[in-house]
Amino acid sequence: MDKIVIEGGKPLSGEVRISGAKNAALPIMASALLTDGWNTFHNIPDLMDIRTAKKLLKSLGVIIEGTSETIRLNAGAISNFEASYELVKTMRASILVLGPLVARLGIARVSLPGGCAIGARPVNLHIKALQDMGAEVVLKDGYVEARAKRLKGATIYFDIPTVTGTENIMMAAVLADGVTLLKNAAKEPEIVNLAQVLNGMGAKVTGAGTDVICVEGVERLHPVEAEVIPDRIEAGTYLIAAGITGGEIRVMGCCPSHLDALVEKLRDTGMVIEPIEGGLKAAGNGRIRSVDVKTMPHPGFPTDLQAQMMSMMAVAEGLSVITETVFENRFMHVGELMRMGADVQIQGSSAIVKGVGALKGAPVMATDLRASASLILAGLAAKGTTELSRVYHLDRGYQDIEKKFSALGAAIRRVSGS
Ligand code: EPZ
Repeated sequence: MDKIVIEGGKPLSGEVRISGAKNAALPIMASALLTDGWNTFHNIPDLMDIRTAKKLLKSLGVIIEGTSETIRLNAGAISNFEASYELVKTMRASILVLGPLVARLGIARVSLPGGCAIGARPVNLHIKALQDMGAEVVLKDGYVEARAKRLKGATIYFDIPTVTGTENIMMAAVLADGVTLLKNAAKEPEIVNLAQVLNGMGAKVTGAGTDVICVEGVERLHPVEAEVIPDRIEAGTYLIAAGITGGEIRVMGCCPSHLDALVEKLRDTGMVIEPIEGGLKAAGNGRIRSVDVKTMPHPGFPTDLQAQMMSMMAVAEGLSVITETVFENRFMHVGELMRMGADVQIQGSSAIVKGVGALKGAPVMATDLRASASLILAGLAAKGTTELSRVYHLDRGYQDIEKKFSALGAAIRRVSGS
């Protein structure tokens, strides 16, 4: 397995270009199942999860062309309605084929994703919503089997504003008979991006980005050419990199409006962050002030940036309380940060982080995608050498991370493992 080795302590500076958003590309690729003909999607990131999504869609009969940033998908001849455990266990977001398959074929058999490092990750809200729309859903042998001659419009109330749940049901509803209201819907920018794509296909979706989304079902959809939004979590990771290393980074190709909660928080730490043509310029500003962070559904502070923020607070001046409200087990990075000298105490869903003068490089292990990013950031700031193992977690969601950091002056390299 590959490792990433970092000689820390250098302030980073220069320009980084942000790739397309993994969490927008995945539902958008699944939406191709709703059409017959060639869809073209631009700004697709080159990531492990995207390759897994292509494998899954091909197993359903989707024809996929294109290699790097632009792909073309044709679902005209899909016949298989089963997403196998072999594929789904490597990527939970595979659940996103459930809604489109029931809408297009009237049947779907999708493996339950199972849990992951950060939590149990149930999909009960996806299932209940499909049942509310008239689908007959059976859980059998670890699979969700859903059938419906034609889904019916319904009013859906999500107990929790689930991101992929909102996306799944939006895609189920676009071909349903009647109007579907999604209440307490998730408001992430990736939801808005998906709604734009669906409307480009001829769907009638309004309210995306608010907590009530209205979908008026239509008879058929047609293929579309569309663009994936930039990855706000990747962009936020590089903004934090400027703060934790005391450097200055121009983060290009990001959408500043998707990063308000993080940018405000980073300004509270003393960083100087200003909009520039085509992106944001972020600069560390001497010592880092400790701030409290509470993760919330969008537009609150993103849970996907909690671990990265903790690395920065580990070398801040004072005490920071970081509260994780979205997932029940998203502090797996704490033990690894403590190996580097961080002073963190977990109390329930909060971590009390007492800033230390400096972290020390050490061998550490990635446990999940965003935790691995936090360890890269800690390694960039630490004195000495940090060796990160299990970097396959990182490759799921960060394109060319060591190349991008090297271009910013980091002493970082990937060592191919056995
Ligand atoms: C999406 O996951 C993202 N993944 C996650 O990013 C992100 O952390 C998460 O949203 C929250 O923003 C993709 O978009 C592919 P949820 P998702 O459903 O949709 C509970 C990354 O690092 N819940 O919004 O799975 C759930 O357990 C990944 O890129 C139910 O109880 O998250 C969690 O506590 C990690 N029942 C909360 O809701 C359900 O049916 C929010 O989960 C669904 C969710």
